[in-house]
Amino acid sequence: MKSVSVFAPASVANVNCGYDVLGFAVHRPGDEVHMSLNGSGVVSIDHIGGDDGRLPRDPAKNSVSAVVINYLKHIGSEQGLGIKLYKKMPFGSGLGSSAASAVGGLVAVNELMGNPLTRMELLPFAMEGERIACGNAHADNVAPSLLGGIILIRSYDPLDVISLPVPDQLCCGLVYPHVEIPTMAARQIIRTSIPMSSAIRQWGNVGGLVAGLFTNDAGLIGRSLVDHIVEPVRKMLIPHFDEMRTIALEYGALGFGISGSGPTVFALCTDENTAGKVTSALAEKLKEHGLGSTCYVSPINKQGARVIETG
Ligand code: HSE
Repeated sequence: MKSVSVFAPASVANVNCGYDVLGFAVHRPGDEVHMSLNGSGVVSIDHIGGDDGRLPRDPAKNSVSAVVINYLKHIGSEQGLGIKLYKKMPFGSGLGSSAASAVGGLVAVNELMGNPLTRMELLPFAMEGERIACGNAHADNVAPSLLGGIILIRSYDPLDVISLPVPDQLCCGLVYPHVEIPTMAARQIIRTSIPMSSAIRQWGNVGGLVAGLFTNDAGLIGRSLVDHIVEPVRKMLIPHFDEMRTIALEYGALGFGISGSGPTVFALCTDENTAGKVTSALAEKLKEHGLGSTCYVSPINKQGARVIETG
C-alpha cells in the first residue's frame, strides 16, 4: 500500500459532568487525512484545505505531522511521507477539531506501516498532539475519535481508558454558534480548586451517568447530565446558553450542555427525530438573536476513525 485516506470524527468532550474524563464520538462532522509514501525520508505537509491558512505548515509545529513524526520515531521507521489534511470542521468550536486531525494522521500512518500498533497504543501519541495544539494533553476528544463510542478516562497516570456501553437510539444534536473560543483560553478561566459540596454532586453524576449507560436508563442518563463545576464558569462565554438549555429540555432532550470547551452545545436525545427538532429550535432562537449557527445531528459513532480509501 502506497497511500491511504482516513476519516476521523468530531467528538463531544466532558459530557457535562466528566471534565477531561468523558467523551463520545459522532459521525459528522470530521476531518480527512490523505497520506502517501514518497521515499523522501522526511515527513512533509503537502496541502491543508479548509483552514484559511491558519495551521502551521512546518512539519515540526503542525500537530498532525508532529504526531506522525513521533510515531515513526517510536517504531524505528525512516519512511518519508506526504500529508494532505482536509479540515472539515471549524476551529475553536468545541468539536475536537485538533483531536480529529491528529487521530486521522495516526490512523493513516499506522495503516501505511501495516498496523504495528493497536488503536489503544496510538492514544498517547494523539494526546501529545493535543498538547501541541492547546497546551494540555487531555484525552477526552482524541480517545473517542480514535476508539469510537463513549469513553471514560478513569486515570491519566497510569493511562486507564474504558469503553462504555452505547444505548441504541441515543442521538446527539450539536449546534455551533458562530463565535470562536480557543480551548486554551477556555481552560484558563476554570477554577483550580472547588468546594467539596460541588465535588460530591459532580462525582454522583459521573457515577449516575456510567450506571445509566450500563443499564440503558434514559431517565438516569438525563438526571446525571449536569455539570456543577465547569459549566457555571464557561457558559458566560456562550451566547444565550441558559435560554438554549430551556429550549432543548422543552423539546425533549435528555440533557444539554457545552461540547468540550464550547461554544458548540450538545443535546443528548433518545432518538434522531427529537435531536433534529431540538437543534432546529436552538438554531432558530440564535437566528432571532442575530447569530448564525451550524447544526449537526448524529448517533454516537461506535467505530471512530476509519480508513476510507487505500491506493
Ligand atoms: N476537556 C477539554 C476541555 C476538552 O474542556 O477543556 C476540550 O475540547
